[in-house]
Amino acid sequence: MKTLEIKGSSGNSLIHVGESLRNLAKYIPAERTVIITDSNVRQYYEKDFPRCQVISIGTGEKIKTLETVGEIFGQLIALEADRSVFLVGVGGGIVCDITGFVASTYLRGIRFGFVASTLLAQVDASVGGKNGVNFKGYKNMVGVFNQPEFVICDSEMLKTLPEKEVIAGFAEIVKHAAIADAEMFAFLEENCRRAVGLNAEIIEKLVYDSVVIKAGVVNRDEKEKGERRKLNFGHTFGHALEKTVGVPHGEAVSAGMVVASKLSVSRKLLSADDAERIVNLLKNIGLPTEIPADRQKVIEALGKDKKRERDKIHFVLLNGIGNAVVDEISLKELDEALISR
Ligand SMILES: NC(=O)c1ccc[n+]([C@@H]2O[C@H](COP(=O)([O-])OP(=O)(O)OC[C@H]3O[C@@H](n4cnc5c(N)ncnc54)[C@H](O)[C@@H]3O)[C@@H](O)[C@H]2O)c1
Ligand SMILES: [Zn+2]
Repeated sequence: MKTLEIKGSSGNSLIHVGESLRNLAKYIPAERTVIITDSNVRQYYEKDFPRCQVISIGTGEKIKTLETVGEIFGQLIALEADRSVFLVGVGGGIVCDITGFVASTYLRGIRFGFVASTLLAQVDASVGGKNGVNFKGYKNMVGVFNQPEFVICDSEMLKTLPEKEVIAGFAEIVKHAAIADAEMFAFLEENCRRAVGLNAEIIEKLVYDSVVIKAGVVNRDEKEKGERRKLNFGHTFGHALEKTVGVPHGEAVSAGMVVASKLSVSRKLLSADDAERIVNLLKNIGLPTEIPADRQKVIEALGKDKKRERDKIHFVLLNGIGNAVVDEISLKELDEALISR
């Protein structure tokens, strides 16, 4: 097991990679704990939960709402949960995002931690202190910055995860390597098969390296004023593809990283060979590198991007593998990149 510390303005967070859900009791600092989980995770793992009360929610992006938050508040009140209660979210990004928001607002804030049970939650959602829910169809519209006291990343739990969810998590791992760590990228290329097969040693190294990268960026820029933007590599196009074609996030980000790599090549920042390495790695993992989409609709969606300033977008490019740069790019240049896609 390896532990990493993140220093946030709301407090510090300890991320334990390679720890087991079965040891959760060791990390709970309060006498009374309530676990928040979803129905799938509960079915697989309730047997390994420490003795405590459990609140279960449904699954899917549709339940990541204020209504669900309200239902949890109701159950906490029914359980007579006071300020001494410690909340633990055991689940994927949805459970973590909701638990963090509930813990940050119930009784003006109670203590909380996570056991991240999906690859995406381990390498991305549970790290960085962003919590929140969707509102009227707008993603992550309502939320807070607040760090969990701890995050347990248990690689054993990934074995029950549907393969599609595993592959989706890899899109963010490739992203982290591409923006910040050329060695990690090469390691991923060499160990791709074993990684996707969830070899514990390999996956724990990749999760740890990912957390180091995300935590490093977040430590330097918690509130997304500058450097944190690098974590959006592949996401500008990715979000536009998600909106227009309705593909899952990981797949959209994968195709988005390919477009961003091509733009980096045309700006002479990235060699064509390195762009090819990115495409090949994504393919070997089983991620799509192209997603057919209506160009006009994609451009319209890009025009609504949150990172837009007038007709320019803050766009993450690669200045070589392992080195991201943020630059302004016009909608026209993005359109041209899509034509040549
Ligand atoms: N806060 C952040 O910084 C941040 C970053 C990235 C993503 N997110 C959010 O994360 C969410 C997506 O997270 P996700 O991909 O983990 O999805 P998820 O939480 O919906 O989990 C995916 C599916 O896997 C099931 N599952 C979870 N763990 C399992 C296990 N060990 N075995 C079997 N099944 C399991 C879940 O029940 C669910 O059906 C999105 O809402 C996104 O906005 C947040
Ligand atoms: Zn993402």
